[in-house]
Amino acid sequence: MTWPNDRDHEVFNLIDREVERQNSGLQLIASENFTSPAVMEAVGSVLTNKYSEGYPGRRYYGGNQVVDEIEALAIERVTSLFGAEAANVQPHSGANANVAVYLALLQPGDTVLGMSLDHGGHLTHGSPVNISGRTYKFVGYRVTPSDERLDLDQIRDLALAERPKLIVAGATAYPRIIDPAPLREIADEVGALLMFDAAHIAGLIAGGVHPNPVPFADVVTFTTHKTLRGPRGGCILSRADLAASIDKAIFPGLQGGPLEHVIAGKAVAFREAADPSFADYARRIVANAQALAAALGQRGFRLVSGGTDNHLMLVDLRPFDAELTGKDAQIALDDSGITLNRNTIPDDPRSPFVTSGLRLGTPSVTTQGLDETHMVQIADWIERVLRAPSDDAVRSAVRAEVSSLCAAFAPYAR
Ligand SMILES: Cc1ncc(COP(=O)(O)O)c(C=O)c1O
Repeated sequence: MTWPNDRDHEVFNLIDREVERQNSGLQLIASENFTSPAVMEAVGSVLTNKYSEGYPGRRYYGGNQVVDEIEALAIERVTSLFGAEAANVQPHSGANANVAVYLALLQPGDTVLGMSLDHGGHLTHGSPVNISGRTYKFVGYRVTPSDERLDLDQIRDLALAERPKLIVAGATAYPRIIDPAPLREIADEVGALLMFDAAHIAGLIAGGVHPNPVPFADVVTFTTHKTLRGPRGGCILSRADLAASIDKAIFPGLQGGPLEHVIAGKAVAFREAADPSFADYARRIVANAQALAAALGQRGFRLVSGGTDNHLMLVDLRPFDAELTGKDAQIALDDSGITLNRNTIPDDPRSPFVTSGLRLGTPSVTTQGLDETHMVQIADWIERVLRAPSDDAVRSAVRAEVSSLCAAFAPYAR
């Protein structure tokens, strides 16, 4: 076999530049992480060549002896990691995992309770521009104006009034613990199913620093690439009696052939997350987030809900600088080597494209080995840049300092 031997410099030079960007800047996007070389080796393997529609032992194509073992191993590892009765490891993404659960459990038009997008929920929790909001009748619950936390009484009242078929818990921008036990009680009170979307916090659950929703929820979905530190993808855990309809919803309901190279990467990540060192990693993610939140608070930034219990925080920029938007802050920080995302804060007067807030998370910087003292340094840099957001000299000075710290902690040293 001869492969084309003219190296595709166009693509590989771009990948080299991205390695350099990840190595030399601070990655504070709460939904990102640095996955291990072993995970990337699995994802880059020949498994990408194999078609395996169906499930282990029940495939539509031949030649799946090895793939069956890989997928079965991934299922065995993830059910043991989270203590679940059943798992589907095929969702191509977190969004697909959620949509498949709806397809399995709901009929079009059914009522569902989910966290409002503008208060921290995800697009797939009923946004009108998403298939979820277009197909089902989602009713949003919100954080309270007083403490910016979920209010169980409000959720119970809504559930009693709306009688949903499903309650969706979980969030994309919520810095506090979400206790699954009282949500189970509310679901039981109104005869609803409970789905817990643990996309952001799966690694914290695996590491024992967030309550595990599996014993309480009928279904738990999550992404494998955030705090869990695996390859990009999704996963569904469920009660055994729901497994057949969830499997049918993923294939043939929603997806075609599974990405077995990614499933192998998920299996590697599940093993890494079961290692005792992962519990220490999860603990350090939260310690770093709390240190960063405290340091930002001391520099005049307001933390939504007053701080964080998990891996992320939401910053309200208005007390720091009433004119500064999340959009401009994101651009100024990106240019200074600090990557994060603008985010609406609860009841944000600005549009989701502009915003008054920022979302910051510590999974990536914790993976690369930064600790609480570095978080204070990061807060200093953020303050310096945002005090003078259009000052090029400040941006380039901070960029140089960030780059010199990152050089000592490069995730993918070359
Ligand atoms: C709570 C939640 N659910 C689902 C998703 C969707 O994951 P994906 O981007 O893999 O589709 C996300 C992604 O950010 C999320 O935060």
